[in-house]
Amino acid sequence: MSRRVLSALALPAGVSAAAAILCQGVEHPGEKKASKKEEKATVWKSRRHIKPCNLTGWWENDLGSKMQVFEVGRDGTFSGEYHTAVSSTQKPIQPSPLTGSQHLDEDGQCTFGFTVNWKKFSDSTAVFVGQCFNGDDGKEVLHTSWLLREKVDSEPDDWKATRTGRNTFTRAG
Ligand SMILES: *[C@@H]1O[C@H](CO)[C@@H](O)[C@H](O)[C@H]1NC(C)=O
Repeated sequence: MSRRVLSALALPAGVSAAAAILCQGVEHPGEKKASKKEEKATVWKSRRHIKPCNLTGWWENDLGSKMQVFEVGRDGTFSGEYHTAVSSTQKPIQPSPLTGSQHLDEDGQCTFGFTVNWKKFSDSTAVFVGQCFNGDDGKEVLHTSWLLREKVDSEPDDWKATRTGRNTFTRAG
């Protein structure tokens, strides 16, 4: 079910259809049919501090893990290295290769995904999905969610093999 439908359903009974449409307009400013004048004002306002999202560079998350994204190609694909600060294995942590793909939307709020293969010290695999946001202060922040698959010895252990979490990254260096 789309967010638009959900937001309409979430309105208390008795709210008129007109008010419902107005509410949706507020929640989805990009989608509402605005007059030419309004449209211009919206574009000016939204582009004032927006730079296009390009993940190239160093990022650090709330746990102190760092990742370096090498040059993002014109098709949005990239590779890089993940330097995790946390691990559940006994072996010493090593930088691990990552590979992914990002949207290249001009509004600077693109979504992306990447896979980390911890092959140098672990037989686990992680996937991240996220979105880039531009704060009012002009600083970029990445909100991500991840799934980590750990290798288990046998199929009956499958139920406990996947963990999930969330991390926020900001530009480092
Ligand atoms: C992203 O930025 C890097 C470094 O400035 C540049 O080399 C690369 O071409 C850019 N990628 C895109 C898709 O704009």
